[in-house]
Amino acid sequence: MNIGVYPGSFDPITYGHLDIIKRSAKLFDRLIVAVLSNPQKSSLFTVDERIEMIRESIYNTPNVEIDSFKGLLIDFARLKQARVIVKGLRAVSDFEYELQMALMNKKLDDHIETIFIMTSSNYSYLSSSIVKEVSSFGGCVASLVPPLVEERLKQKFNNN
Ligand code: PNS
Repeated sequence: MNIGVYPGSFDPITYGHLDIIKRSAKLFDRLIVAVLSNPQKSSLFTVDERIEMIRESIYNTPNVEIDSFKGLLIDFARLKQARVIVKGLRAVSDFEYELQMALMNKKLDDHIETIFIMTSSNYSYLSSSIVKEVSSFGGCVASLVPPLVEERLKQKFNNN
């Protein structure tokens, strides 16, 4: 079975992430969306909240599952018998950091490849951080995240 892992913080999931999920799901028998659980990294949403928002946002993708992981991504990928890590690339600015991670992961396990999918141009400027910033000041993020996520952001920032 051809298994891929798409890791991230997903704090929260955006249409940019969903674009990568839908496109990469076609490349694998199973795609595991892996939510990073890192108590050292401050996040707006809990892991459970992030997973719920992803679950509610993906549909018509029966081969996509959601899980969370702690520690090294490569250990999680190995545990799930995934041969491929999927990352989205938005702009040249992503490249240096992603290259570093891909090379380190390759060093940790030579049998697991990282592949990159170019984010659709509509979403090349989009990130969870920018969505949180806009929402925190009451800006409209309806075109950037699914309706449930928009609602949850409003609740977090008391912008109802
Ligand atoms: O959505 P993000 O925050 O850009 O995702 C980053 C993520 C989760 C892919 C990255 O931080 C990660 O893989 N963390 C797990 C720890 C790890 O494996 N570090 C070594 C990578 S070289």
